[in-house]
Amino acid sequence: MRSFSSPPASLASSSSQLAHSVVYFLMGEAAVEMVRNKQVVLKEYVVGAPKETDMEIRQGKASLRAPTGVEGAIVVKNLYLSCDPYMRGRMRDYSDSYIPPFQPGSVIEGFGVAKVVDSTNPNFCVGDYITGLTGWEEYSTIVRTEQVRKIEVFDVPLSYHVGLLGMTGFTAYVGFYEICAPKKGDYVFVSAASGAVGQLVGQLAKLHGCYVVGSAGSAQKVDLLKNKLGFDEAFNYKEEPDLTEALRSYFPKGIDIYFDNVGGAMLDTALLNMRVHGRVAVCGMVSQHAVSDPKGISNLYTLVMKRIRMEGFIQSDYLHLFPKFLPTIIDLYKQGRIVYIEDMNEGLENGPAAFVGLFTGNNMGKQVVCVSRE
Ligand SMILES: NC(=O)c1ccc[n+]([C@@H]2O[C@H](COP(=O)([O-])OP(=O)(O)OC[C@H]3O[C@@H](n4cnc5c(N)ncnc54)[C@H](OP(=O)(O)O)[C@@H]3O)[C@@H](O)[C@H]2O)c1
Repeated sequence: MRSFSSPPASLASSSSQLAHSVVYFLMGEAAVEMVRNKQVVLKEYVVGAPKETDMEIRQGKASLRAPTGVEGAIVVKNLYLSCDPYMRGRMRDYSDSYIPPFQPGSVIEGFGVAKVVDSTNPNFCVGDYITGLTGWEEYSTIVRTEQVRKIEVFDVPLSYHVGLLGMTGFTAYVGFYEICAPKKGDYVFVSAASGAVGQLVGQLAKLHGCYVVGSAGSAQKVDLLKNKLGFDEAFNYKEEPDLTEALRSYFPKGIDIYFDNVGGAMLDTALLNMRVHGRVAVCGMVSQHAVSDPKGISNLYTLVMKRIRMEGFIQSDYLHLFPKFLPTIIDLYKQGRIVYIEDMNEGLENGPAAFVGLFTGNNMGKQVVCVSRE
């Protein structure tokens, strides 16, 4: 795993100069440059829907030198941080997941774009831009760099590397092509369709010659889906009195592919509307994060009756496809064949609000936090 930069408390508190942004600590013979380091810390494990008060902003300190004696570390200045629903899963005391929980009192970890300020790693030089797992803080020391990638494409905005060209774009790509087994003419339904993953799934499905309907939680998002993202139809699920009827009206012949981002009642209802040999890609269950006692899915028998394949997946199992994904999506974007909607919050201190907003539908497109532009 990684570690984040924080000097020993005894050393840090010995300075009386913390009003300045840069201070020097004597460590043995060498003076080590320390800077103030704003951080977002998880206070306690979260119950129910995450709240801003589950996190706090802390003023820490960071060394701008890669630690000696640790091979292959980098120190980075964080520029853009990704807000992702899966991070809610790390805010509970549950270790049986594909990724370990956060530790209360520690800096939150997530995907980001950052600039290297020091390195003992031969693969990364000072001045390189990288993307990968980093800390929700101004400066991070990354000791384990397996999940860090050097950015080599600069003719798109840097922040796109945590969205369209990063984990969420890749999720849409592998989820659609590897799990959904799409065919031209398929009827495709996408939930949370205007979000980071959903917006690309819908556009890839259109490019594949499918008929695509998306659901989203506001009239503005529905408008975006139909008029900017090219979905054939879209509806506001919050205003539908009967979801089963709604899906029947949008898919009179049934659904071939359901790309499920939300779980819960929408999944149950979609199952009732599937066609024979339909595919359900279970990407995420954002509707279930705040539910302490989730209700079961009652329409599973349709899997047998309609010979449906329903499959959960995690994008990181498909990383061997990343080298194919990146140029494909860059080309589609540059040719204007796909568009990308990003929702940027300014300032690390606004990170908790941006993250919490994912669970109330506050984000319009991929939610990113800008820590610094350079
Ligand atoms: N399997 C993987 O490898 C993988 C990787 C990345 C993401 N995911 C999953 O993919 C899904 C989408 O992630 P994303 O990053 O693209 O997030 P996102 O869609 O950009 O943001 C979350 C959206 O979820 C919707 N939402 C929130 N609470 C909801 C509820 N109770 N019922 C229905 N919809 C709700 C909101 O949109 P509305 O306003 O439309 O309700 C909100 O904007 C999540 O479930 C996530 O966990 C999976």
